[in-house]
Amino acid sequence: MRIFVIIGTRPEAIKMLPLAIELRKYNELETKICFSSQHREMAKSVFEEFKIHPDFTFHGMKTGMNLKKITSILLNYFDVIFNENKPDLVLVHGDTTTAFCAALSAFYLGIKVAHIEAGLRTFDSKSPFPEEFNRVAIDAISEIHFAPTESSAENLRREGRKSVFIVGNTVIDALNFSLSSGVDTPLSEELSGKKLVLVTTHRRENLGDKMLSSLLGIRDVLLTNDDLFAILPSHPNPEVRRVVNEVFENIKNINICEPMPMMEFHSLLSRAFAVFSDSGGIQEEAAHLGVPLFLLRDKTERVECMSLPNVRLVGSEREAVKGEFEAFLSDKNLQIAMRCSSTIFGDGYASKKIAKIILKLRAEGKIAPLH
Ligand code: UD1
Ligand code: UDP
Repeated sequence: MRIFVIIGTRPEAIKMLPLAIELRKYNELETKICFSSQHREMAKSVFEEFKIHPDFTFHGMKTGMNLKKITSILLNYFDVIFNENKPDLVLVHGDTTTAFCAALSAFYLGIKVAHIEAGLRTFDSKSPFPEEFNRVAIDAISEIHFAPTESSAENLRREGRKSVFIVGNTVIDALNFSLSSGVDTPLSEELSGKKLVLVTTHRRENLGDKMLSSLLGIRDVLLTNDDLFAILPSHPNPEVRRVVNEVFENIKNINICEPMPMMEFHSLLSRAFAVFSDSGGIQEEAAHLGVPLFLLRDKTERVECMSLPNVRLVGSEREAVKGEFEAFLSDKNLQIAMRCSSTIFGDGYASKKIAKIILKLRAEGKIAPLH
């Protein structure tokens, strides 16, 4: 049975490569990795860290393409690749433009699609944008749904989706891979004796005023607390870089750096005093590690986070971010209470579970006929 594992962005590489490695253990499965290059720089280092190369790489992606352009060229690319290679099953992850285009191309060709990290919902098509639409569409196309949690599975059942399997999130498999690798990011001189604050931001619906406002809130607190040192690996989106550079110009206790290799980032994350982020994956990782996370978003599709002690949904208002941050700094009990880990997003065996289910479905003749 020929399986195509689709990867476009950094988080897809982080969450799909542990699964591709697992699938490749089975001789009866021919597992091919197809990389759309949506994040050609950021995903490349993840492939290197897992010591794995894509079988197919799209070379037509250019910096600064808008959503319409990315969508049209990828729809066309996947159509060609699937037509030429005739996969029996296409595995897509999450809610990116790459995942949406691969799923739609496969659907038009009558190829079965399985969705990893299925069922996440905010029920607001503008937040996150365009991801909420993408994942709803992908779930409608997919015949097999691998939900990370009970609540995501429940969303799928409510929509009448069949073949829903709860397996946890493969990001925990990747996190364990990193943490067991022994990679230990050396902390710079500037950080010695200081509390590490990690900051990431990239969400499309936050670009502009919201991003500016939330980062100003963080800046206000850094300015008055020189026992803090922040690291902000800056997303390559020029819109993000412009705001980040403007806000933190001349601020001494922050290091704005390039996106970090996954293992280094995981190592830093596990040692962070506090994290400020609008990321999806970092919510799952911070919950697993028990690291205090201030979520720079208005809502989250990881609804489990709302009942976890380590996560606070703070939005993007400058005063709200500043207020939450200062309250945390002044309350030792809160710091201890928020350092609380959870296995809600998985046990590190999601890839193994998905591979076993695919083999079982194949044995039952539900994916491709046995040759
Ligand atoms: C994409 C995903 C989002 C995911 C995020 C992970 C979509 C619609 N969104 O958002 O779900 O959370 O990735 O980070 O698919 N760029 C580079 N080099 C890179 C990466 C990006 O130059 O390695 C540039 C792109 O050319 C583009 C901009 O950054 O101009 C935004 O990238 P894009 O992939 O369109 O959206 P993200 O915000 O990264
Ligand atoms: N990450 C990384 N290097 C960095 C910042 C983040 O490897 O400099 C990892 C992080 O551990 C997580 C993933 O990238 O697994 C999250 O990616 P992002 O926030 O870009 O996307 P999202 O999860 O929001 O889709």
